[in-house]
Amino acid sequence: MMRQLVIVVMIVIANKNLKRRENYRKPVIAGNWKMFKTRDEALFFILQVSEAMPSSKDVETIVFAQAPLMRCLIKRQGLNLKIGAQNLFYEDEGAFTGEISGPLLKSYKVEYVLIGHSERRAYFYETDEIVNKKIQAALRNTLRPIVCVGERLEERENNLTEKVLERQIKGAFEGVKAIDMKNIIIAYEPVWAIGTGKTATAEMADDACGFIRNEIEKLYGKLIAEEIRIQYGGSVKPENIEELLSKENIDGALIGGASLDPDKFIAMANAAVK
Ligand code: 13P
Repeated sequence: MMRQLVIVVMIVIANKNLKRRENYRKPVIAGNWKMFKTRDEALFFILQVSEAMPSSKDVETIVFAQAPLMRCLIKRQGLNLKIGAQNLFYEDEGAFTGEISGPLLKSYKVEYVLIGHSERRAYFYETDEIVNKKIQAALRNTLRPIVCVGERLEERENNLTEKVLERQIKGAFEGVKAIDMKNIIIAYEPVWAIGTGKTATAEMADDACGFIRNEIEKLYGKLIAEEIRIQYGGSVKPENIEELLSKENIDGALIGGASLDPDKFIAMANAAVK
């Protein structure tokens, strides 16, 4: 009798572990440096943090730097830190002065590229259609996009958050095949929380990330929706990252200001190790 009970308990525990592993989404902590840091400042940062990054078995860490820094940073990125690009153009080559091509990023062995950041939408007029074309360009060049979505303050105040997210998700992934979704990360960044010190509460962030996951389920089914990683971004710092990451639908953070400081970046990367 006792033996049977022990076996039953063991089976229950094994099943639970299996389930946990099935649902496991490795956290991804990314710093978006935006238009900050010169070459020397960037190199100094990499020198300080690369040895202190947690193992890539537990958490993926990425720094998104300005394009001219790509080459020198990638050479020194270390085992557990990746260098990503902040932008790419949707054509692979041509007369597009000032733009950055997917094939060029690929030739530097860049893996991740940010697409659709709200600053690009606001200052460089990137529409959902352009975001979609850029995602296609990234995938064509075997780059992995982090696709940013998020509502503006007046949209939240007018209860339009879900409508906006739905439109952005549908627009971004129009024509993107299910098989490519494993190479995509989504970042939910409410525009009103970016650079303002106003973080969404962990509940608000989790709700929005859950809504996005639901939209992905509508487009691609349950399995892909359960597997896709969704980050939160907007005034993330060492003091609030743990609470945000403890939420069911938040699989990482996309960090602006606080990612410029090596000590803070190290602290936030390590906070993601459970
Ligand atoms: P802050 O962390 O400075 O609010 O910026 C967030 C962001 O835009 C990351 O892409």
